[in-house]
Amino acid sequence: MNMYDIITKKKHGETLSTEEIHFFVQGFTDGTIPDYQVSALLMAICLKLMDDRETADLTKAMMHSGDVLDLSAINGIKVDKHSTGGVGDKTTLVLAPMLSAYGLTVAKMSGRALGHTGGTIDKLESISGFRTALAEDEFIRQVNLHRIAVAAQTKDIAPADKKLYALRDVTATVDNMSLIASSIMSKKLACGADAIVLDVKTGSGSFAGSYENSLDLAQKMVSIGKSMGKKVCGVITDMNQPLGNAVGNALEVMEAIETLQGKGPSDLLELCMSLGSELICMVEEDCNIEKARQALKDTIDNGSAFEKFVEFVKAQGGAEEEVRNISLLPRAKHALDFISKENGFVGSIECNEVGMASLLTGAGREVKDAPVDPAAGIYIYKKIGDPVASGDCIARLYSSDQSKLNPALERLKAAYHLSQIQPQRPTLIYQTVK
Ligand code: URA
Repeated sequence: MNMYDIITKKKHGETLSTEEIHFFVQGFTDGTIPDYQVSALLMAICLKLMDDRETADLTKAMMHSGDVLDLSAINGIKVDKHSTGGVGDKTTLVLAPMLSAYGLTVAKMSGRALGHTGGTIDKLESISGFRTALAEDEFIRQVNLHRIAVAAQTKDIAPADKKLYALRDVTATVDNMSLIASSIMSKKLACGADAIVLDVKTGSGSFAGSYENSLDLAQKMVSIGKSMGKKVCGVITDMNQPLGNAVGNALEVMEAIETLQGKGPSDLLELCMSLGSELICMVEEDCNIEKARQALKDTIDNGSAFEKFVEFVKAQGGAEEEVRNISLLPRAKHALDFISKENGFVGSIECNEVGMASLLTGAGREVKDAPVDPAAGIYIYKKIGDPVASGDCIARLYSSDQSKLNPALERLKAAYHLSQIQPQRPTLIYQTVK
């Protein structure tokens, strides 16, 4: 078997065998197959596609390229949720304590900011002392004690994906649904949960882009998960504008805490109840979505989800006082307003560009492993369909470095399109794929 033949086969649109997929993943991971050959194969995959069997084989090869967690020492069914990546998407920070307060066991590994999208781990680390680097035994102990833990994926989880993603990122080969599905599912499956709800974003701020691609991605991921004996469903949700109002690390933690206290934006709460009720109904018999939604809402109304968040933060070394008093969380020294010069309505938003503007404030990373500014980001005052008058503040940008604010503002301005006609507000939840 050799790489030249594998590339040629895919170039001609042929199907790769399980052995061929395993061969290139292993060879690329151990450094015996060079980047330039894998780049050529990735481009051939983008142009000629992979079928479901190839996609499942790629997932398995990447999943087994590193550690596969054994969570059998954790009592009961372990649940997880994953988003395909969004802007202002702080859902995990709200949903994980809601599910835990409800009685489910949440064992979650998360990633850092990737391109225009934020990362849960960066957000949690804006709380002083919060530790995300948990060893496997500590992770298991934490989940057994508190029914909730969120840890950073270690470098030993799906190392093949890490290497492959870095190459895809610089060879314009990210946006293929088989490559995205196998990338996400290899990491999720290596993390060992029994039931997973996938939040598959669609729209201008999503990796999938079009609705057709998002549906394809959801179907692929659900089918991979089921083929590996997991309970999985995918919910296609809107990413044509940021979720909630806050984009950035500490800003999103503040908004998540407000949501847990019943004072958050309605779209964020609605998304949590939709994803959470689908997850509950996957793991409980005789479940009904309406009852599950109400039970989740009760965890907000009776304060148990907020108290679970406090318990979770304390258990992972975070400062309780910053959760109970959000004014103690990192605050930016500098701010700049995006002021409207026109009257009208917000017609559309290039949501990925809002993510890029937030990255420019310092909230994201331009290069891997760069530090993030916990206080930086954007607070959005006007979303699609909102009326705007000349002089109104559309958004406020924050940074610890004043020189970053003007370039970020220019990028944000270009992302907003005003209209004279009030557009419909986007649908938030489109469809569930089971
Ligand atoms: N998120 C991932 O983990 N992988 C992709 O390919 C895209 C988004």
